[in-house]
Amino acid sequence: MELFHHGTNFAGGWRIGDAMSVRVLGIESSCDETGVALVQTRSGQVPQLLGQALYSQIQMHQAYGGVVPELASRDHIRRVLPLTQQVLQDTQLQLHDIDVFAFTRGPGLAGALLVGAGVACGLAAALVKPVLGVHHLEGHLLSPFLSADPPEFPFVALLVSGGHTQLMRVQDVGHYELLGETVDDAAGEAFDKSAKLLGLDYPGGAALSKLAEKGDPKAFKLPRPLLHSRDLDFSFAGLKTAVLTQVQKAGNEQSMSNDAEQESFRCNLAASTQAAIVEVLIKKSLLALEQTGLKRLVVAGGVGANRVLREQLQHNCAARGIRVHYPELHLCTDNGAMIALAAAMRIEAGVESPQVDYNFEVKPRWPLQTLSKEAFN
Ligand code: KG4
Ligand code: ZN
Repeated sequence: MELFHHGTNFAGGWRIGDAMSVRVLGIESSCDETGVALVQTRSGQVPQLLGQALYSQIQMHQAYGGVVPELASRDHIRRVLPLTQQVLQDTQLQLHDIDVFAFTRGPGLAGALLVGAGVACGLAAALVKPVLGVHHLEGHLLSPFLSADPPEFPFVALLVSGGHTQLMRVQDVGHYELLGETVDDAAGEAFDKSAKLLGLDYPGGAALSKLAEKGDPKAFKLPRPLLHSRDLDFSFAGLKTAVLTQVQKAGNEQSMSNDAEQESFRCNLAASTQAAIVEVLIKKSLLALEQTGLKRLVVAGGVGANRVLREQLQHNCAARGIRVHYPELHLCTDNGAMIALAAAMRIEAGVESPQVDYNFEVKPRWPLQTLSKEAFN
């Protein structure tokens, strides 16, 4: 039975017909951003982003100093259908023009994930279209394929977000080998916790880096745990303790008589914190490139937006003949485009077939490297 005007349905599975293009709607709702986007596959080329819409809940969570899971889920419910309608309006398409409904299956907040999963599966069931659950981090690491300078496989990926810090060897779509990861806090978490100690709103990564622009990165000697270990693991938990110690020391000494001195202390501590995080990220990324012998690095996740990280990576990698690829700046943080893209690339690569069975499940904890084993045709 021909169910889809773009694709072909067969024996409970689903595959793209020869040279046919597929439109994939992607829904991201793993944390505090609701993202919806539509991509279209193009034979032999990276799928094209047709349109996207995003709503960030950050302002709502700021009052609490971090993401409140229950509030996040409720807000995803409020936003997801209007955002879907907006994408359809912008692209002048209708629901029945969508061939596959993709959603973030995990990792993330269980209640938040269930919203995207429920909506994607509900729409797909109503329209008798297939669905595909996507790994959030796969979305991040494939997102540079939507940039003007897309990478080629294989490459090393540095995934640096609020919840994850990992180095992966990416052989191809769906084939990911974990090279190293944080043993405690993620890099984004280190930025956010230090920012909070400096009196900045959640999530403070971008604000901390703004403050750091006026500071001296050498003003404070902060720890760089595991910097010299020959493995590819990271540890950032000690950093926030060191930042806290400096903040407390400054408070106890009451040595800062005026606002200018206080401001200079904050800027210097922000710059020193950023320098410590960036130095470790760069050292380990270079080590991963050296150990794998690969000459391409992809940096993805929210911390990938950090300007100093980008500049120093560029400098260090250019000297070694290594190309560094990033997602477009607006696709560094969570969005629906990367979810639609990852689904489209998995389908095109034949790594996974979308399903016409709507018994969805979400995976709040889901190691990325297990995807290679879970891949099926
Ligand atoms: O990938 P993302 O949007 O969400 C997660 O999946 O976690 O990353 C958010 C993280 C936050 O910790 C935020 O502070 C950090 O990325 N971030 C930055 C910058 N922009 C966002 N960290 C440092 N410098 C930035 N410019
Ligand atoms: Zn993310």
